[in-house]
This record gives sequence, C-alpha cells and structure tokens, in this order.
Amino acid sequence: MPIAIRQLHPVFAGEVSGIDITGPVTPEDVAAIEAGMDKYAVLVFRDQRFTDEQQMAFGSNFGRIEVSRGGNVTKPQDLRLKPGMNDVSNLAKDGRPLARDSRQRLFNLGNLLWHSDSSFRAIPAKYSLLSARIVNPKGGNTEFADMRAAYDALDDETKREIEDLVCEHSLMYSRGSLGFGEFSEEEKEMFKPVRQRLVRTHPVTGRKSLFLASHAGAILGMPTPEARILLRDLTEHATQPRFVYVHKWKLYDLVMWDNRQTMHRGRRYDESQPRDVRRTTVAGDAPTVAQVAGE
Ligand SMILES: [Fe+2]
Repeated sequence: MPIAIRQLHPVFAGEVSGIDITGPVTPEDVAAIEAGMDKYAVLVFRDQRFTDEQQMAFGSNFGRIEVSRGGNVTKPQDLRLKPGMNDVSNLAKDGRPLARDSRQRLFNLGNLLWHSDSSFRAIPAKYSLLSARIVNPKGGNTEFADMRAAYDALDDETKREIEDLVCEHSLMYSRGSLGFGEFSEEEKEMFKPVRQRLVRTHPVTGRKSLFLASHAGAILGMPTPEARILLRDLTEHATQPRFVYVHKWKLYDLVMWDNRQTMHRGRRYDESQPRDVRRTTVAGDAPTVAQVAGE
C-alpha cells in the first residue's frame, strides 16, 4: 500500500499512514518520505516502536547520522545513549530524572527556546527524528514553525534588507540568553561561533526560508544590539500561531522535521516524572556560507 499523508496545519506538517518504518523500507518509500518532507517539512508517524538501532537505521536512509558531541555539556561517561543518539530526555544515566540543579539539565533547558538543530555546527542538520519512548503526563509538547511561510509573509523591503545577511550561531548565545554562562575552556573551544546565512534556499523546492535559531547572537557587520533586535523581531514574526504546528506526543510517535525549513522548541513539563524522547539527527550536505579561513 502506498503511503498517505494528511496535512495537520494550514501551511505545513503532515501525518503519514500506511507504513511501518521500524524495519527495512524500500527505495520508493524513502523517495516518497523525502518528497513529503520537501512539501510538509514536518512528518508525524504514529505507533512506531523503535529500538535505537532501528531508529538510526531508518535515519541513515536520508544521509549521514550526526554524532552528538559538540552539542551538549554532558560528559562522555554520563551519556545514557550511544553516540548516534541525542538524549532529549530528563533522565540521568541511572534512568531517574536529573536533579533540579544538574548542570546537564540546566543546559538542556535551552531546548525550550526556538531553534534549528545543529545550526551551531558549520554544517547544520538536515533532518531530525524524535521518538517518544516515555511520554510525560503533563506538558512537553513540541512546537514547530514553518520558516518558509514566515519568509513569504515578510514585506519586500525586509526581504531585501536581510537577503545577504550572515549570522553567528553558538550554543553559548542561546544558553547565555538564559543566564547559563559558565563554560570551561574546552567547551568554549567546542562551542565557537559558526556562520550561517539568514536566508537560505531549499535545494529541491527552491523555496526560501528564514534560518533563525536562539543560537544566533550576532550578524556580521552589524552592531550587536541592533542585530539582536532584528533577530528577535524576525523570530517573533516567524513564530506567530499561523505558522506554528503544536505536536502533542503520544507514546511511540516518531516526528521527523527538516531543520532547513523549520524551527522548533520543547515546552515545559513535570520534571519529577520521566520523559524519554530520543533524537537521531541527519547531517546536512554543506555549510550555508564560507567559514572563516583556518576554522
Ligand atoms: Fe531541537
């Protein structure tokens, strides 16, 4: 049976039915899912009981799987999951919720700010795949914003103004905005800012989108406060309800999104209870703009 996609929001996001993606999938199915991603930018698959190995195998149909190093402050010996899996849970290695003052937890709260995964890497992410293994009883929605529709809705003057702007993205900017500002020398090196275009064009559809994230903290050639006001204005514009799909998690949902065309954020939840969501990230193909020589 061919897959079917039902649109979930007026401008984007679709729910896929007619396929089990936990096992091998055919090249035709992979092509149909890619085409669905190009069109809807967010796809929801229900009742997919993944193991980590199966989730990584499915993700690798769409490109290279990114390793999580460089994206958090969790020490290698404290990791709960394998290197190809990003831990978006509130759990420590022993399976219990992290303590309130845990540095790992406080850093990870940055996931509740609007962002695009790995925009702080020179080659930012293509897709993310998030699998719900334990759903928290209260809160914890994930919200997605369609950055193509947000771009389209800008006036022509703004489009001209921002067309060639280049931003600097770093985890130190997003965490710094929450008052999390203490980084070791090793972390400062790991989280060094990278450059990203503010407007990017989708390689298949040719649609332009705003490439924003709370990781963006500077714009080349612009005084910092002016840059941050512009970034805040654009983010406020792009995250209006008319551009936002709210995903309410059910157990074994797999949600897949295109980081080149969307932003997302988690919402608060009852952290005394477990929430186990696990992400696989498919790396992008190329930087959005040249980096500084020697970096
Ligand atoms: Fe994320």
